[in-house]
Amino acid sequence: MSFKLLSVVLASLLRLAAATTTTTSSGSGNSSCAPATCGNLSITYPFSLSGVQPLYCGNPAFQLTCADAGRAYLTRTFRERLYRVLSISYEDNSFVIAVDVDSSYGGDERCHIPDFNVSSGLSLLPVNVAANANLTFVYNCTLPRNASVLLQPACVSPTIGVYVPDGEGNAPPEVPRNCSSVSVPVRRSSFHNNVSDEPAREYRRLIEEGFVLEWPPTAAECGACRRRGGECRFVELAFQCICSDGRPCRNSRGKKNQNLLT
Ligand SMILES: *[C@@H]1O[C@H](CO)[C@@H](O)[C@H](O)[C@H]1NC(C)=O
Ligand SMILES: *[C@@H]1O[C@H](CO)[C@@H](O)[C@H](O)[C@H]1NC(C)=O
Ligand SMILES: *[C@@H]1O[C@H](CO)[C@@H](O)[C@H](O)[C@H]1NC(C)=O
Ligand SMILES: *[C@@H]1O[C@H](CO)[C@@H](O)[C@H](O)[C@H]1NC(C)=O
Ligand SMILES: *[C@@H]1O[C@H](CO)[C@@H](O)[C@H](O)[C@H]1NC(C)=O
Ligand SMILES: *[C@@H]1O[C@H](CO)[C@@H](O)[C@H](O)[C@H]1NC(C)=O
Ligand SMILES: *[C@@H]1O[C@H](CO)[C@@H](O)[C@H](O)[C@H]1NC(C)=O
Ligand SMILES: *[C@@H]1O[C@H](CO)[C@@H](O)[C@H](O)[C@H]1NC(C)=O
Repeated sequence: MSFKLLSVVLASLLRLAAATTTTTSSGSGNSSCAPATCGNLSITYPFSLSGVQPLYCGNPAFQLTCADAGRAYLTRTFRERLYRVLSISYEDNSFVIAVDVDSSYGGDERCHIPDFNVSSGLSLLPVNVAANANLTFVYNCTLPRNASVLLQPACVSPTIGVYVPDGEGNAPPEVPRNCSSVSVPVRRSSFHNNVSDEPAREYRRLIEEGFVLEWPPTAAECGACRRRGGECRFVELAFQCICSDGRPCRNSRGKKNQNLLT
């Protein structure tokens, strides 16, 4: 037997062994999708932790990367380490993320504001951002005084300001055409009392405290799956419940994909 042929045989044996191991481990109930930890976050469906859990343990859009000092970031963003996950509430189908301004700001060094529309960067994620208030930062124009507030402490550039929602939570007025602008969602609960004054003085705190994103209510189907001893996965763009025999459970949504998987 030639060395080359032997290698091929060995390689396929190894691949088979690997495949068998995978099947066995999910079949024994000690799943590869067991919750992972990053900092004080517990990471499980619909999230997955890169390098620790297989991608199918969650929705690929919600894959997280654990970076230095236990900070969890969304993996699939247009810049690395851009959106940091501060907390996850599996009961409420929601999580809080904050934009990492130090790594994204590219202009006035005294103004710590993002240089892009923060919710646009999330437009490919299946999330609802509506539960927040928007701060709209405007720059490079003469700011209309009645609609905007200058940031304090002042930026180097005197033309950077913030449009704020009014006391009733209505969106700020339209930004003049001349101005450049970026919108940053912030948690309504981050506001204290002084609605008009606070965003300008405390914009850094408001941005750091992040904003809430809600994901579609898949938690209920995942909860039902776990109660019957199954493992929640995301395969072929759909939720799937894998039963203890390593196959999709009957009545789980991914049933139609069964043949592709086995
Ligand atoms: C599951 O696997 C982990 C290591 O991946 C091991 O520490 C743990 O004891 C296993 N649990 C069971 C119930 O086999
Ligand atoms: C997680 O850690 C952060 C600080 O790193 C802290 O602010 C937060 O309260 C902690 N959350 C929980 C649930 O312990
Ligand atoms: C942010 O969005 C607004 C409104 O959609 C747009 O006018 C503005 O140019 C955007 N800013 C950036 C930096 O893309
Ligand atoms: C905030 O801005 C985003 C994008 O510009 C928009 O989709 C969202 O509806 C706004 N939210 C509020 C409360 O105005
Ligand atoms: C303001 O406009 C100038 C010139 O058009 C540009 O170089 C600068 O980057 C703009 N400022 C910001 C914060 O985008
Ligand atoms: C808009 O730009 C024009 C031309 O650059 C300038 O004359 C005008 O004063 C600007 N308006 C505002 C509100 O900044
Ligand atoms: C601010 O004043 C301008 C004219 O000076 C007016 O067109 C605009 O509607 C005012 N905006 C608000 C929110 O009052
Ligand atoms: C609200 O702001 C005003 C003026 O900016 C200040 O005098 C007042 O003490 C503030 N109130 C609170 C509760 O912070």
